[in-house]
Order: sequence, then C-alpha cells, then structure tokens
Amino acid sequence: MARRKRSTRKKVVPPKRAPGRKVRPAPPPLPKPAGRVRCVVNGKPVDEACDSATRLLAFLRERLGLGSVREGCARGECGACTVLVDGRVVPACLMLACQANGTEITTVEGLAEAERLHVVQTSLLDESESSCGFCVPGLLLSAKALVDGNPSPSSEEIRLQLAGHLCPTTSCAAVERAVLRATRDVYGHAGDTRWSHRQRK
Ligand code: FES
Ligand code: FES
Repeated sequence: MARRKRSTRKKVVPPKRAPGRKVRPAPPPLPKPAGRVRCVVNGKPVDEACDSATRLLAFLRERLGLGSVREGCARGECGACTVLVDGRVVPACLMLACQANGTEITTVEGLAEAERLHVVQTSLLDESESSCGFCVPGLLLSAKALVDGNPSPSSEEIRLQLAGHLCPTTSCAAVERAVLRATRDVYGHAGDTRWSHRQRK
C-alpha cells in the first residue's frame, strides 16, 4: 500500500499576545456591493440603486414609501409583509431587493384601479368584523393570488392559502367568506361554500 507523503509545510503558530496588551478592534465591514434594482412595482417601472443586502421589505417600505408592506416577525412566519412577485405570494422580509430584478411586484397600493377598490377589498370590507388592520394588506394579497389562480377554491384550499398569516384579530371564517364572495363576483359562482355556511350557523 502506498504511504502518504508527509507535508513539508510549516505549521503557522499565532504570535503570543503579551499580557495586558490591547486587542485591536475588528476592521470595519467591507462595503456591500452596490447594484441596481429594476422591476415593475404596481404597474410602474422602478430603477433604483440598492446594495446587495437590502431586503425587499425595506426597499418597498423605505425607498418606495409603500407603507402597506408591514414588518411583523421579520422571519417569514406572520405573513404581514406579504407581496405578490410575478403573481406569487412572497414574504418580503425573506427576499432580497436585488432578487426582484426583472419581476413584477404588487402591493395593496396597486390593487385599486382609478379609486375603485379591487373585488377582494370590497368583499373583505363586507364580510369582516373589526380588526386593527395590521395584517389586512398581506391577507388581501394572498386572497387575490388565490382568486386569480383558482376559479373554484375549496375551503381547504382557502385555509391552506391563508395559513401563513398569523393574525389574532381577523376572523378566519370572515376571510374565507370574503374569498368565496370575490370568487363569485369574478367567475359568477360561489365555489365550495359548505364550510363557511357551517361557520355562520
Ligand atoms: S414580517 Fe415577513 S413574515 Fe412576518
Ligand atoms: S389585523 Fe390586527 S393583528 Fe392582524
């Protein structure tokens, strides 16, 4: 069997620090590489300088002034920061702004058309009781994504879609009724209403 050759490289031994000698402060962090974010937000083209560490949440809120994108848990668990990226539900706290290059982003500010509320907004207004409103933008966008992609969602599909929104004040049943109502308004039928009828009794 061939024997492994012993390395001839010398082991690097760190120099011993004299007792009482000050530790040198860590060097300042390297500047984050700058770049540009080019995307379409609520139908308007955006072209902004942005460093590679900026989250989409901060970019939308602080750069573009879109206050409906809320920061809750900041780790993808509460759904408050939900936006639509190319029609898909995305937590903006978990995405970097630079990853949004070339995409189309929708926030609640982009739902209404010429001061006419979107059908999911009017449905939720009609169906929900009082809530503080903090999570409502994210809920609306998740509901919109479902209504856009599924003409006849079942109760399970609605609950699955809304499962990523941890909201203690908005009633789940009310949001489900709102989704069914919006589906009926858009497609002309009520989808699977069995579960929500049970909830109302
Ligand atoms: S703030 Fe993004 S999921 Fe909670
Ligand atoms: S709307 Fe108030 S906590 Fe969710």
